[in-house]
Amino acid sequence: MISRRSFIAGGIGAGFGAGSTFRLLASPIEPFRLTAMPAKASFGTGHLADVWAYNQSVPGSIITVKKGDELAVLLENRLEQPTSLHWHGIRLENAMDGVPGLTQAAVQPGEDFLYRFKVPDAGTYWYHSHFNSPEQVGRGLAGLLIVEENDPYPVDRELHLVVDDWRLDEDGQIAGDFSAMHDISHGGRMGNYITFNGQFNPDVPVEHGERVRVRILNAANSRIIPLGFENHDVTVVALDGQPVVAFSVANGRLTLAPGQRVDAVIDMFADPGGRYPVNFFHRNGVATVAHLSYNTTLNIKENPGDVPQLLANPLNKKIDLDNAVVASLNMEGGAMGGMRQASYDGKNMGIRELVDQGKVWAFNGVVGLPDQPLLKAKTGQTIVVEIANNNSWPHAMHLHGHHFTVVERNGEMVANHPWHDTLLINRSEKVRIAFVADNPGKWLFHCHMLEHQMGGMITWLEVV
Ligand code: C2O
Ligand code: CU
Repeated sequence: MISRRSFIAGGIGAGFGAGSTFRLLASPIEPFRLTAMPAKASFGTGHLADVWAYNQSVPGSIITVKKGDELAVLLENRLEQPTSLHWHGIRLENAMDGVPGLTQAAVQPGEDFLYRFKVPDAGTYWYHSHFNSPEQVGRGLAGLLIVEENDPYPVDRELHLVVDDWRLDEDGQIAGDFSAMHDISHGGRMGNYITFNGQFNPDVPVEHGERVRVRILNAANSRIIPLGFENHDVTVVALDGQPVVAFSVANGRLTLAPGQRVDAVIDMFADPGGRYPVNFFHRNGVATVAHLSYNTTLNIKENPGDVPQLLANPLNKKIDLDNAVVASLNMEGGAMGGMRQASYDGKNMGIRELVDQGKVWAFNGVVGLPDQPLLKAKTGQTIVVEIANNNSWPHAMHLHGHHFTVVERNGEMVANHPWHDTLLINRSEKVRIAFVADNPGKWLFHCHMLEHQMGGMITWLEVV
C-alpha cells in the first residue's frame, strides 16, 4: 500500500508550518476573504506541487473566532469549477451550511458567496469545499476553524496539526486520478505522503516543560489515521470539538477517521534536546510522519497538576428515547459487498450499470442523495438512527448541523458516549445513534470518506 520509500523520500523541508497558515481574527465589520484558487505548495518533497488552495495556503488559513461570535466569510471562487464552503461540526443556520443542491446553489467560477452565521460552541472545527469534494478537498481546499472558549483554557501554548494524506506522483504533483472506481469501491483514495500542516515529516519545535493543547484534524479524503506521540502522555480533552471527561491514552495513541478532530493536552516532559517521533501506523508497519523537537534548555516547572476539564458546550443532551423518531440505515455496496442492484436517479439499476455511473454504494437500497429525506422530525424531537454496516469496509458517518451520541453498539447499551459529528463504524457493526433535532433545516448525513460519498453514500434528514 505505502511503499517505504515514499515515506523516506523528500528532504528539503521548510520550517514547520512556516508561511502555511495565517491566523485570522473575526471582525464584525469586514468579512474574511477566502479565495479559492490554484496555487503552489511545497510539501517538502523537493518539488513545488500544483494545488487548489484557500488564500494560497495548504491547509487553508486558520480561522479563529470566539464562542458566540458571528463569523463572516466571503468565499471568492477563482477556480475553474463551481464550489462551496461547508463548516464542518458547526451548529449553524441551515442556509449557511454550504451544500450545493440542498442548502444553496453552487458558487460558480468568478462568483462570490457571503457566509455569515453565529458559532454557538467552542472547539476545533474545520471548513472545506462541499462540491466535487474528492477532487477539491483532495487538491487542498480545507482549513481549520477554531472557536475559542470565553475563558482561556490554561495551557502554555496551542499547536495546530492538520494531518493530511496526499497521492503524489514521481514529480511531486498531486495525482489527477480523482474518484477512480477502485478507490470508490474500496477504502477510498489513499495517498503516499502524510503531511502535518502541509509539510512532509517536519520537525515540530517544542520547549521542555511546556503544556500544550494540540488540536488535530484529519483532513484526508478517506484515510483513517492512527497516530502515536512516542514517549509522551497524551490526554484527550475534546472529540469533534465537544469536551469529554479527560482521559489519557497509552503511548500517545490516537486514531482519527477522516473529518474527525481531537483536542489533546501534552506535557512536554521528555528530554531536552531530544527528537521524538510522531508515528503513523499502517497496514505494513510504522512510518514516522513528524518529530517533536525539543529545545536544549531544561525547564523544570512545578508539577502542572491534572489536565483541566473543558467546559461543556450548550448542546441539547436531553435524549428522549421513548418518543424518538427512528430510522434504519443499511449501508450496502462496495467491493466484496455483494450488492446486485439499487435505485439511482429514480431508476432501478443492476450493479454493472451502477459501476458505469461511478456509483457502487447505497443507503437502504438508494444510491446518492434521494429526493425524500431519510426521516423528518419536528424541532425538539429526539432522532434515533440505527446504522448497520452491512459491507466489507469501515465508514466515517458525518451528520451536518448537529452532534450525536451513541446509545447502543452491537446490541449493547452504551452510556455517556462522547458527542460526535463524525463516527467511525467498522464492518459488521451496528450502532444506534441519537440526538435532539434542535436545528431546523435540511441536513446531510453521509460517509466522510469522500470517495464513498461520491459513490453514493449520502442521504439527508429534515428538521421542521
Ligand atoms: Cu465535512 Cu458533509 O462534510
Ligand atoms: Cu465510507
